[in-house]
Amino acid sequence: MNDKKILTGITTTGTPHLGNYVGAIRPAIASSEEQGRDSFFFLADYHALIKSKDRDALRQSCLEIAATWIASGLDINQTYFYRQSDIPEILELNWILANFTAKGLMNRAHAYKAAVDENEQADPDKGITMGLFSYPVLMAADILMFKATHVPVGQDQIQHIEMTRDIAKRFNHHYGEIFVIPEGVIDRNSSVLPGLDGRKMSKSYGNLIPLFCDSKTLRKYVMKIKTNSIEPGEPKSTDDCLLFDIYKSFASESQINSMKTGLENGMSWGDAKNELFELLDDQLSKPRLKYDELINDPSFLVKALDEGAERARSIASSNLDQIKSAIGLGKLS
Ligand code: TRP
Repeated sequence: MNDKKILTGITTTGTPHLGNYVGAIRPAIASSEEQGRDSFFFLADYHALIKSKDRDALRQSCLEIAATWIASGLDINQTYFYRQSDIPEILELNWILANFTAKGLMNRAHAYKAAVDENEQADPDKGITMGLFSYPVLMAADILMFKATHVPVGQDQIQHIEMTRDIAKRFNHHYGEIFVIPEGVIDRNSSVLPGLDGRKMSKSYGNLIPLFCDSKTLRKYVMKIKTNSIEPGEPKSTDDCLLFDIYKSFASESQINSMKTGLENGMSWGDAKNELFELLDDQLSKPRLKYDELINDPSFLVKALDEGAERARSIASSNLDQIKSAIGLGKLS
């Protein structure tokens, strides 16, 4: 095992889109290929249960996310890739950690507070489950279980990492240096990809470009990207230019320069969109084939996740033994 352990979870709701690919999947895979680190990437399906009670959707999302990561080039033999629900040790740790988590700390969690704020004063807890309330404890268990040192997350999750650190420190204060105090990492290179309308690409805004749709559909989406009414032949600025921002996330240095010169010299939006489509289609066509193959016959995915869980569990169970002994719940003789 390496000293540097990178861990992140992906909540299994929905299908990954181009923004997830640029912002999370692609940088995570690139990072996992660097030497001197172990990478743990898992499908946070127990976290998904908090948001979704739709059995088929949950199952389908798990398969689609697993297929996306593998089709995008994740090496499942060099990393730990597993389903959270396949590692029961995480839930045992969840309970242990709950006893080191101040209720007041959970009261301050953004996701819980937002849910309370949406409710009427008369019943602030309407529709709020213990799952939602305890969400950060489960996340702490995910992280501390594997003694992760670095946790790449979006800005909205940084508070949960702070809570994880707090919980781990309280535990260590009682029982000694059992847990590693993790650091949250926001990857500066993985800037947020804008959606079709210029806001952050997100399912809830309905402005996303799917990742592995067929060429024809991809072209349709690219044609919908918002531009301005500057005519063909007129110079166009690449500042605050949505199309150019998306192009930049996929193009090489020289392609970026030539697109910039083209637009400044009056290239039409139609031609620019065609170039963006060609670029995306070229980069995505190979993984798209792989994705389709994996989704059409999920037996490979199932086996990959089972094997990933088995490898991850051997670490989890030995760490859990150490934790249980520390608190007096280990073997009695
Ligand atoms: N809550 C995270 C999200 O919605 C997903 C997640 C679950 C996670 N457990 C984690 C991320 C542990 C990092 C580490 O994005």
